[in-house]
This record gives sequence, C-alpha cells and structure tokens, in this order.
Amino acid sequence: MRRLWLHLKLKNVICITLTLALICCFTITFSIVKDEGQETGLSETLRLTEQYGINCTAIYEMEPVELGKTLVIRKEKSYVGQTDRTIVNATYDCDWFVVSRGYDAIQGSEFEREFPLAYSLVVHQDVALVERLLRAVYMPHNIYCIHYDLKSSDDFISAMKGLARCIPNVFIASKLERVQYAGFSRLKADLNCLSDLLDSEVKWKYVINLCGQDFPLRTNAELVSDLKELKGRNMVESKWPGGKTGRWTYHHSLKDSNSEYNESPASTSEKKSPPPHNIAMFVGSAYFTLSREFVVFVQQSSLASDFLAWSEDTYSPDEHFWATLVRVSGVPGEVPSSDPEISELKSKTRLVKWSYLERILYPPCTGVSIRAVCIYGAAELRWLLNYGHWFANKVDPKVDPVLMECLEEKLAEKLEYFIWGFWYFENSLFI
Ligand SMILES: *[C@@H]1O[C@H](CO)[C@@H](O)[C@H](O)[C@H]1NC(C)=O
Ligand SMILES: *[C@@H]1O[C@H](CO)[C@@H](O)[C@H](O)[C@H]1NC(C)=O
Repeated sequence: MRRLWLHLKLKNVICITLTLALICCFTITFSIVKDEGQETGLSETLRLTEQYGINCTAIYEMEPVELGKTLVIRKEKSYVGQTDRTIVNATYDCDWFVVSRGYDAIQGSEFEREFPLAYSLVVHQDVALVERLLRAVYMPHNIYCIHYDLKSSDDFISAMKGLARCIPNVFIASKLERVQYAGFSRLKADLNCLSDLLDSEVKWKYVINLCGQDFPLRTNAELVSDLKELKGRNMVESKWPGGKTGRWTYHHSLKDSNSEYNESPASTSEKKSPPPHNIAMFVGSAYFTLSREFVVFVQQSSLASDFLAWSEDTYSPDEHFWATLVRVSGVPGEVPSSDPEISELKSKTRLVKWSYLERILYPPCTGVSIRAVCIYGAAELRWLLNYGHWFANKVDPKVDPVLMECLEEKLAEKLEYFIWGFWYFENSLFI
C-alpha cells in the first residue's frame, strides 16, 4: 500500500516537474521570439481593425455604425506605417523576414502552378506599402521584377534590394531609369522589366504591371481563371485618340516643370513625322496585362522597335504605346482596329475612379481625391470587390487604413474557401 502511494507520489512529482519545464520552455521561446521581433522592428503592430473592433463583413455590408468607426480612425490619424529604415533592418535577417511576414506559408494550387504569372513593379517610395502589395500578389511560382527609380531615397533602394535578396523569385531590374512624369522613362522602366522577365527561368503566361498604390481585388487563383479565358488576348485600354493627338504631332522635350515632378515633357512647335509603318494611333493607360507571345513580339519585331523609337519624344508614350500596338494587324492577341473602343471600364486591368466621372459612372469617392484620382475609402470595399476588375488604383493606408486591411482580409477568406473547396473536391473524387 505504502509502496503504491510512493509510486503515485513519484509519478505526480515527475508530472509536475515536466509541466513546469514545458511552461518554462514556452516562456523562454516566446520571449526570444518577442525580443527578435523588437530587434528587427518587426513585431507587427496590432491591425487597426482588431484594435478598434471593426468587422470587415459589416464594412462590406455598408453598416453605418461600422463605417462610422472607420471615420474615427481617419480623424484620429491612428495609422502609423513602418519606416523604410525599419524594413531595411528587417531584411538583414532573411530567414526571419520571410517567416514573420508569412511568405514561406504562401503556396499555390496545381491549377495555379501550371499557369505562372509575371509582374513588373515600377515603384519609387513607401517601402511598407510596396511590401504589402508584393505580399498580396505573391506566389512562389510566379516571378516579380522590381524597378525602383534612380531618384528614390537610399533607404528605399536598400529595402528593395533586401526584398529581392530575401524573397524567392523577386529580383531588381537589370537596367534602371530616372523616371520622369509622363516621360519616355516611365515606359522604359516597364520595358526593362519585361526584357528581364522574358529571360527568367519561369515560363510565365501573362505579365501585369503595378505601381506602388495598386492593390489586387482578386486572388491569384481567380486571376488565373480569368486569364485562361482570355485565350491569348491582351487586356489593355485602347480608345480613339480624340483630343490627345497633340501628344505626338509635336516634338516634346524634357523641361523643369517647377512642380513636384522635377522634369516632364513639354511640347515644342517642331512638327513630328507621322508614326512609322502607317500605324493607326490609339490611346489608353500605362497599365497592362499582356500575354507572353505579345511581349516576345514587342521585343523582336522591327515595327515595334521603330514605333518605340518614334515615341521617344512624345508626351506620355506609356499611354499610347500598348494601346496602339495591340491593334496592329497580325500581332499575337490582336484587337482588330475596327473593333469598338476598349474603355477602362471594359478593360479589367485597373479600377480607377476619376472625380469628373463620379455620379455618372460610379458612386462618389469615399476616400480623398488627389489630381482627380480617388484614393479609396472603406465605404468603397463592396464596390471594389464586386466590380469585376483585377486591381484597384489607388490605395493608401494613410488615407484609409481600414480599406486595405479589409481587402486583405476578404482576399484571405476567399483563399480559405478555395483551398477547402479543392480539398472537398479532391476527396469527393475518392468517396
Ligand atoms: C460581422 O458582421 C456580420 C454582418 O453584420 C455578422 O453577420 C457577423 O456575425 C459579424 N461577425 C462578428 C465576429 O461579429
Ligand atoms: C536599424 O539598425 C541599426 C543598427 O542595428 C539601428 O541603429 C537602428 O536604430 C535601426 N533602425 C530602425 C528604424 O529600426
């Protein structure tokens, strides 16, 4: 009897000791993790939606009380972004960086892996925002070219190099430009990336260009599904020139514009020759979704290189280069020049809200309009997600941090449905 009691007591002691040891272990690990987080400045601050108890589904449902909370956040200017320097520091330890930001956990399905995508990111400021955009579109089987501006700050440049060093399949363009507003350099920046992307090992099917204030409205799987339906066609705006012919009938040269843009092209009185090869001009936007075959054509055809050279002294060539080339007879994924206009509402590449079209084509901007373009607010979450376009321009957490958090949350939810849907589908095949 006494023996049994002793035995039980011993068992208890061992049990308690083990439990204590375990708790100790956890506490130590936890504090190490916490310390590391503070050292690298990576201890993610609590998301504002959590801090203020905001329910993104209720935001999506446009519930007034919930939308009211977002206005308080905006008024109190509660959003504090991470500085460029903090992220530079964070990328010194790549292993920690990719794990703490969740890059290592991102994985595509078989369906996505057999249809890789390429991205050209032309960016110049705000590392925190660029990193968040990259994370939102990231898939380890896709390929990402970052073109930073030669005018960017040292910290910004170091951070971009850090991202490229730490994250697989992210690289810096081999040739970099000083990007001038509405200048040829803006188009060159994308072309530099496109050329590098064609050289990469990833045999991507489509390429999409993004700037620092874009944000996805679709998951990678949804995008792949839409792109497969294009069957090799491109997705760009392409409209008749209307009042914009002055952009290429006169020679333009770079002038100090005394504005925030440093230099930009100004018209001279010198007339230009008409476009080479009798190309019919169209206008659109700088944003594109292009098939690999089309990009190969742009790189190899003499028509495209003649047109590029001719475009060098035009105003904002990025806004007519792609719009025109997709209409050229015989190009891969050609849009016949007799086809109707492809407006920005028809082209799914980018959802932009212009202040002069508000109330005519869409509800008013609920964020802030800057130079006639809306930086979206939380009350536009539903409109953005339901419109059917692929990317939103512009987002900025300094205007409305809740919109971005809710976009991230809604996309993550769809990811879960997608994974479980697949799991269910695959398992139901064996039942
Ligand atoms: C969030 O709001 C939706 C819609 O009002 C509601 O159905 C849901 O229960 C809410 N979720 C939480 C966690 O409060
Ligand atoms: C970055 O690291 C340096 C050196 O370790 C440190 O002095 C600096 O305070 C850090 N900066 C930020 C913003 O974390």
